[in-house]
Amino acid sequence: MIRSTAKHSFAKPIILLLAFVALLAISLTRDFHSASSSAYVSLATTWAPDKYRINVSNQNQDVGGGSNKDRYPERALSMTYADLPAPELKWEQMASAPVVRLDGYSLQIKDLLFVFAGYENLDHVHSHVDVYNFTSNTWTESFAIPKDMANSHLGVATDGRYIYIVSGQYGPQCRGPTAKTFVLDTHTRKWESLPPLPAPRYAPATQLWKGRLHVMGGGKENRHTPGLDHWSLAVANGKALEKHWRKEVPIPRGGPHRACIAVGDQLYVIGGQEGDFMAKPGSPIFKCSRRFEVVFGDVYMLDESMKWKQLPSMPKPVSHIECSWVIVNNSIVIVGGTTEKHPVTKRMILVGEVFQFNLNTLTWSAIGKMPYRAKTTQAGFWDGWLYFTSGQRDRGPDNPQPRKVVGDTWRTKLRLL
Ligand SMILES: *[C@@H]1O[C@H](CO)[C@@H](O)[C@H](O)[C@H]1NC(C)=O
Ligand SMILES: *[C@@H]1O[C@H](CO)[C@@H](O)[C@H](O)[C@H]1NC(C)=O
Ligand SMILES: *[C@@H]1O[C@H](CO)[C@@H](O)[C@H](O)[C@H]1NC(C)=O
Repeated sequence: MIRSTAKHSFAKPIILLLAFVALLAISLTRDFHSASSSAYVSLATTWAPDKYRINVSNQNQDVGGGSNKDRYPERALSMTYADLPAPELKWEQMASAPVVRLDGYSLQIKDLLFVFAGYENLDHVHSHVDVYNFTSNTWTESFAIPKDMANSHLGVATDGRYIYIVSGQYGPQCRGPTAKTFVLDTHTRKWESLPPLPAPRYAPATQLWKGRLHVMGGGKENRHTPGLDHWSLAVANGKALEKHWRKEVPIPRGGPHRACIAVGDQLYVIGGQEGDFMAKPGSPIFKCSRRFEVVFGDVYMLDESMKWKQLPSMPKPVSHIECSWVIVNNSIVIVGGTTEKHPVTKRMILVGEVFQFNLNTLTWSAIGKMPYRAKTTQAGFWDGWLYFTSGQRDRGPDNPQPRKVVGDTWRTKLRLL
């Protein structure tokens, strides 16, 4: 995109000035079109983990933008928003998704990744599914979702053929939720309805576990208040075996945007947040406005005792990871997310690590770095390769705030210890 045209050395200062102006213009344009799908060269180069760290020991460091009152007391600075040390991984860029996608949801069935709905930008949501084939490494197909299905903040689960889609936000910006629930037969591409959730939820933790579709937590009707309710519905072969959802043991901590994973007899709920953006009161377009949020790295586990147990927390708080995980060799691998807001600038901070939770030892580690930090990625694993696609990436190696919504797809050879 930017070519060096400086051939005549006498014109160097002017050319440098012009180049600077051009770069400024480009960066401004990018900010304005931050959710457009125009080609953007994503450099899979190393990003510097230390550069954005606030050095608590350095009293002179200006972190707040000038005055003394912007400087944070040392004790209040936590390192959670900073990048963690992690090995480099070699990433290969694959075919980009047909659309850019924020808050998309995905499920892998054999060598296919089904990617549902999501935002194109805050004012436009998708109403279709895109399918990626890990064998041919191409996006092979797109088809519509039901008209009254939610477009983001879904609860999703699969049994290997049927995909269950529970509740979520209907429409763009910070619109209201729907309790409607659907099932897709991936063999026939046919959709059916299921009994609606007892109350709508935003991004509830959802999983199929021992023959029942479990839905818990999430954001309540106002999008902000964490829900603790936990319901389940017996399902088999894409059919509900009951007319109503059953009340289950509430989850100790509520809220949306968590990973919910069943491994054998255990059900895990990992990370997430309390609070989320809400519709601005009176806004005709339900314009999203920021509200207080707490991101956490808690891990809760349910087993046959049907009592929640708390397991070791993630290395740092991580949210927006509903579909950013895979299970490999009895480990859960999580790609990206968001962490606590920057304590000084209050900006959202993205996560650029790949985490492993080894279920044999119940230990967490940061096993690699992504090509950039990103949230709401859709992850898959096939033939030794860890894939992720889409989401919202950072502003650059030195700036972990969210910027561009992307459809980029990447993979790396995974080797777990
Ligand atoms: C932080 O401060 C320590 C001690 O003053 C110094 O050695 C280190 O280089 C600093 N790190 C950064 C990233 O500024
Ligand atoms: C994925 O692509 C491969 C290679 O083209 C093909 O053999 C395979 O059947 C596809 N997978 C599915 C589930 O369609
Ligand atoms: C999983 O374990 C198998 C058997 O030990 C090994 O061959 C494979 O490389 C492991 N996979 C990863 C991703 O580490």
